[in-house]
Amino acid sequence: MGKETYGISSSGRKRLGELLKEVIEDVKPSKSEIDAAKYAINTIMGRLKIKSPKDVEILLAGSVARGTQIKGNSDIDIFLLFPRNIKESDIERKGLEIGKGIVKKGGNESYIVKYAEHPYTRIRWKDYGISIDIVPAYKIETAKERGTAVDRTQLHNEFVNSKLTVRQRDDVRILKAFLKAHSIYGAEAKIEGFSGYLCELLVCHYGSFLDVITGMANIRLPVVVDVVKPKGGEKDNAAAVKRFGKNFVVIDPTDSDRNVAANVSDESLFRLVLISRELLKSHDKKSFYAKGHAEVNSESMLNVIKDMLQSNLYALHFNVPEIAEDIIWQQLKKARIRLQQSLGENGFQPIICMQNVDGNDAVMGFFIENVHAATRKVVGPSLMMGNAVDKFMKAHSGAMLMYIDCDRICAIEKARYSNPEKLIRAFLASRNSLPSNLKANKASMYVNKLPERHAKLLYLAYVTRFQIY
Ligand code: CTP
Repeated sequence: MGKETYGISSSGRKRLGELLKEVIEDVKPSKSEIDAAKYAINTIMGRLKIKSPKDVEILLAGSVARGTQIKGNSDIDIFLLFPRNIKESDIERKGLEIGKGIVKKGGNESYIVKYAEHPYTRIRWKDYGISIDIVPAYKIETAKERGTAVDRTQLHNEFVNSKLTVRQRDDVRILKAFLKAHSIYGAEAKIEGFSGYLCELLVCHYGSFLDVITGMANIRLPVVVDVVKPKGGEKDNAAAVKRFGKNFVVIDPTDSDRNVAANVSDESLFRLVLISRELLKSHDKKSFYAKGHAEVNSESMLNVIKDMLQSNLYALHFNVPEIAEDIIWQQLKKARIRLQQSLGENGFQPIICMQNVDGNDAVMGFFIENVHAATRKVVGPSLMMGNAVDKFMKAHSGAMLMYIDCDRICAIEKARYSNPEKLIRAFLASRNSLPSNLKANKASMYVNKLPERHAKLLYLAYVTRFQIY
């Protein structure tokens, strides 16, 4: 590997420093937004105090409590901390009861129940455009006492509030905006990027936004970040890489058994590497603002891509239940990968695969070269596996050709499907090919033409993936 380093000269640092001063003005919530959040917090906390039993502690948590929230995202997390001796099912029930019970129905306020590991109440306060999550958890002193995944949040609060300076909190906001503009902010399955807490830990470890991106631009994997023990030896780092099975590890200072970067995909990590290098070179303010795509006609944009690739677009839409988006996303991904593999095995290797989810809509799409398949290659077992090879040869005795490819026995057979459409229909019809929340009778297939609503979701997925800067 080359020894190229992506550094920053003192004049570059000055120029970027000036730029970041402008960026922070844009990404820090305005005084009126902060005032509205404060008002909502005081009102809701007041109501919660009246409704909650005496032994339940009420805690403001998340980015608003830490001063790391970005403009337009002053969503508030309030935790109801129950004593450890209460049953999990009881805190779930009581949490919802208290959450729902404080909503003043009609006009301005409404609530929905959201689902994470446990259900919680999300209150929408229309007048202020604010959401308030009322999350039940256990009151704990250390991660060892943890009962549910969200219990750690109170410890994160304490850690971040005791470690980050006011300036570093602004740097967290800048980092969040930078990641958001490039669609890699958030740990959810759809993004597989950097959570808010991970941003806080990275700024804490590297020192500032500029130091984070300089570190990322010059990354040499594996990387193990331990803010409590910043100079861990090579032995410790190797052990952490092995323990977490990842080569980008950020140890949670409140729970050494957790890798806060566990959800960061390689694609997201290397996107950060690339955009960091670019920002160090270009000093371009645009890096902090997402490009708008809302106004375009997505179907025609997909058509342009289809023509450019000299391909056809095959799309599937599923009407899905409105359960946790992470679950639908993972199921859609599983089905998409299965279908993608099957397409490849049958001579229709997709050039680009996409998926997206929004509410009840789940879509996947494939750009596939315009081909008519006459044959298909079936890869058999390794020749080291005697019995399996015998079985394969028997099962494929009617093949047009049989041959050895490296160590494997292979057959060329007549194609089962002459075009992708037939294969996709067979895929939908076959038992067990779809995970539980994707139903064949709630699926529609489109070839080249599709409703704008579904096209928008696919085009967004395309743009997210194929626009790096
Ligand atoms: N949390 C976590 N790991 C995640 C998601 C959340 O540890 N993958 C914890 C963190 O302590 C986080 C809190 O849950 O601060 C609330 O999460 P969330 O509301 O998703 O994010 P914020 O940190 O509040 O950041 P922002 O709202 O600015 O996106």
